[in-house]
Amino acid sequence: MAKHETPLIDQLSSGPWPSFVDDLKQEAESRAKNDKNVDFQIPQDCVDDLLGVLELSYKHGRTHWKHGGIVGVFGYGGGVIGRYCDQPEMFPGVAHFHTMRVSQPAGKFYTTKYLKDLCDLWEFRGSGITNMHGSTGDIIFIGTTTPQLEEIFYELTHTFNQDLGGSGSNLRTPSDCLGQARCEYACYDTQAICHELTNEYQDELHRPAFPYKFKFKFDGCPNCCVASIARSDMSFIGTWRDDIRIDQEAVQAYVGGEFPSNAGAHAGRDWGPFDIEKEVINLCPTGCMKYEDKKLMINTKECTRCMHCINVMPRALRPGNDKGCSILVGAKAPILDGAQMGSLLIPFIKVEEPYDEIKEVIESIWDWWMEEGKNRERLGELIKRQGFQRLLEETGIKAVPQHVQEPRTNPYIFWKEDEVPGGWERDVNEFRKYHLR
Ligand code: HEM
Ligand code: HEM
Ligand code: SF4
Ligand code: SF4
Repeated sequence: MAKHETPLIDQLSSGPWPSFVDDLKQEAESRAKNDKNVDFQIPQDCVDDLLGVLELSYKHGRTHWKHGGIVGVFGYGGGVIGRYCDQPEMFPGVAHFHTMRVSQPAGKFYTTKYLKDLCDLWEFRGSGITNMHGSTGDIIFIGTTTPQLEEIFYELTHTFNQDLGGSGSNLRTPSDCLGQARCEYACYDTQAICHELTNEYQDELHRPAFPYKFKFKFDGCPNCCVASIARSDMSFIGTWRDDIRIDQEAVQAYVGGEFPSNAGAHAGRDWGPFDIEKEVINLCPTGCMKYEDKKLMINTKECTRCMHCINVMPRALRPGNDKGCSILVGAKAPILDGAQMGSLLIPFIKVEEPYDEIKEVIESIWDWWMEEGKNRERLGELIKRQGFQRLLEETGIKAVPQHVQEPRTNPYIFWKEDEVPGGWERDVNEFRKYHLR
């Protein structure tokens, strides 16, 4: 028998999509039965109370969590998101309901042993409810009490060799597409660099030292499966600079209908037989492809590496061999001064261990932003305020046409004094000698 009546959220049990309500009820029941005789460290009925408070929010159309919450573990300045219910008497099981961010492995590959161990810990010391995973990438433990935080942290670090993720004005948990692990498009080892930089910048991740939050994300190619261009202050997107590798025989297999276009991604609907002119050549954004005498040709100089042709004919076309990544900076959500996507800073850089060149770029950006950034000003906003030119100066990068989509149209152009013959110091009396009032 459930602890609270939940007529509104019960409606979310129907329909084909996996129901979070059913799953929560299952966990509530499992805790009530306690077949494994777990010595629960937080209220056994916390999931019932979670369902109860959610039902109340459905009824009121308002949240029932109090504002903020500052909790954590010694040594770190982040990693735990504190939260308290604003109806603790009605729902004592969720009076404390803190969320812990646990650092996930790059690419999110797991063994069942690892996950079972995490679950055992979380059932014992937390609610048993998780988010797999938070948008930034972390494994999220949803709901525990303050006294359990150090206990869980001790167990994570000592038994599982596992750290917390980031929160607050610091480097947040980096994440990546699964990259070379399972994708033929990957232009560098996204998991390796994601893991390496996470380790390299542990201090910046655990102890907030920045004007505001800062995120890294690593995409193996411009398809951007981890959406780095939209969701990270520094976005690393794989690319190449030589020719796309063409297997002409495989091209023929596509033209002959032997291989399905886009690896069968549009098989759910009849789009007619594959037409290479219509579906590839004419859709190339730069018009740099040609198909003549059963031969596909690409003018590499004009190719922007948009991935379209490769995505359509993955068995015939592959990224080049001279691979690396582009670095884009400044992506952020709307608050305060409007949403931004990453702007191209470095068109091409090799991605090779130990990533010294890349670390130099990161650290020169941090040196600038940590000094000049205003309180709670994202990198993208600092770039707007002080200018892209300043970013180039601080990172020692030479301005190139690739830095802009289009040149400025307004003529409000700043010159440096030393670029202008004679400088800025002028005497009006000199001027008056030639120009009477
Ligand atoms: C032979 C006639 C003229 C010449 C050679 C001339 C030349 C110039 C030049 C060189 C500038 C400076 C542009 C700059 O700072 O980049 C200027 C600005 C300006 N001129 Fe003239 N001008 C002439 C006639 C006029 C007339 C008849 C008017 C108004 C009725 C006028 C109004 C202005 C104004 C308002 C500006 C300032 C624009 C701004 O700062 O955005 N000019 N002119
Ligand atoms: C009492 C009369 C006026 C006052 C108080 C006034 C004031 C101003 C001010 C404060 C500016 C901005 C200067 C800056 O941003 O550095 C300006 C710019 C300008 N004014 Fe006037 N103005 C007056 C009359 C006029 C008249 C009669 C004309 C033209 C026939 C004129 C044409 C302009 C132009 C073309 C600009 C430049 C706009 C720009 O830089 O984009 N003004 N004025
Ligand atoms: S971003 Fe590119 S390399 Fe990474 S998984 Fe997606 S398609 Fe593959
Ligand atoms: S990657 Fe894009 S720009 Fe380059 S040839 Fe293919 S379709 Fe054209």
